Amino acid sequence: MEEVGVLIVGAGPAGLATAACLTQFSIPYVIVERESCSASLWRNRAYDRLKLHLAKEFCELPHMSYPADAPTYIPKSLFVKYLDDYIERFNIQPKYLTSVESSAYDNDKKCWSIVAHDMVGCITINFIAKFLVVASGENSAENIPVIPGLHSFPGEAIHSSRYKSGKSFSGKSVLVIGSGNSGMEIAYDLATHGANTSIVIRSPIHVMTKALIRLGMTLAHRVPLNLVDNLLVAAANFVFGDLSRHGITMPKVGPMILKSKTGRSAVIDVGTVGLIKQGIIQVRGSISKIMGNIVKFQCGEEISFDAIVFATGYKSTANMWLENGESMLNDNGLPTKEYPNHWKGENRLYCAGLARRGLASIAVDAKNIANDIKSVIASISG
Ligand SMILES: Cc1cc2nc3c(=O)[nH]c(=O)nc-3n(C[C@H](O)[C@H](O)[C@H](O)COP(=O)(O)OP(=O)(O)OC[C@H]3O[C@@H](n4cnc5c(N)ncnc54)[C@H](O)[C@@H]3O)c2cc1C
Ligand SMILES: *[C@@H]1O[C@H](CO)[C@@H](O)[C@H](O)[C@H]1NC(C)=O
Repeated sequence: MEEVGVLIVGAGPAGLATAACLTQFSIPYVIVERESCSASLWRNRAYDRLKLHLAKEFCELPHMSYPADAPTYIPKSLFVKYLDDYIERFNIQPKYLTSVESSAYDNDKKCWSIVAHDMVGCITINFIAKFLVVASGENSAENIPVIPGLHSFPGEAIHSSRYKSGKSFSGKSVLVIGSGNSGMEIAYDLATHGANTSIVIRSPIHVMTKALIRLGMTLAHRVPLNLVDNLLVAAANFVFGDLSRHGITMPKVGPMILKSKTGRSAVIDVGTVGLIKQGIIQVRGSISKIMGNIVKFQCGEEISFDAIVFATGYKSTANMWLENGESMLNDNGLPTKEYPNHWKGENRLYCAGLARRGLASIAVDAKNIANDIKSVIASISG
């Protein structure tokens, strides 16, 4: 049994940011992480060519800037270095290989009771905490859709989190399923490594350049979102032309409003669109079933593939271990309350990094949480 003031679950950017903000107020905390390192998503579950999709000014954690000479779009290795420096600067010491299995609010003791598994000692730890911060991420588990016959596919079928590079797929026919930023970039990576690449694009998407998104995010502070959207859509049409004949259609709602309403990001083109236009990457519609190597599409086409990459996103898993969290999270492990009120539940329960708004919003969550904890502590002791 271990009594702690604040327990933070997860040592990704959100957990680290919360830890740093608490340190600024000299509030003690314990941070637990199921993996053997911090930010495992970035170290172990991201493809080689990944850079931050957003310009660096939108990707800083609280109380520490990127080095002045850092490139506008931070590559993965530099982001990991930044996190390592952050951990050192705020002397954050996560308890690694410690996975939270359950947690419930104890109404008598007015505390959170948390059960964690310590994988090193193979023991169970019971934490008693006044404050509980869920920072286990929106990307905690792979999301793979149910496709009839998938089990009969004899080739490699992997989730995007296990994809590193197209090198090993050279000369193979590969199907990428999912057209978010990961799917579109992985398709590009595969094609440029000589894989015969197809991508399933089922629903409408906004394709933007990174400069347009940066402009949009900068303007959003000063100009109404619908005007920003009109500008972005017009500019994207000018840059990319009409993509509908290549199988890419645009949502009716503009990119900034769509992001703020649903959390769905625009795709930031890394060159994929050019390859689609040249016919090097083929766009395909919905899949109806898989029979061995053959993928049957709803349009009736049947095509043979050697490998499939599922860029179909992730799931939060906080709902699987958090009891009495209904005031804050729904059955999908995501906030019940709308942004910007999503970060706080009842009984000193908080979440950081679950608003589907990236690192900028993680920084705001962390500051809000630390400020709130500080004021609760002040009100108890004062
Ligand atoms: C490919 C990719 C690119 C992205 N690019 C950008 C970008 O350019 N800009 C941007 O702003 N955002 C980006 N994001 C979104 C977001 O910023 C990142 O996903 C970020 O890592 C989220 O941080 P987090 O701390 O909330 O979650 P995570 O990084 O997922 O960290 C959560 C941690 O909690 C741990 N954990 C989970 N469950 C438990 C448990 N039960 N017990 C103990 N530990 C647990 C996990 O192991 C993990 O280390 C990107 C996301 C992805 C997937
Ligand atoms: C690439 O795959 C398509 C099907 O997606 C197929 O028609 C074409 O023949 C393949 N090209 C090569 C060079 O294998």
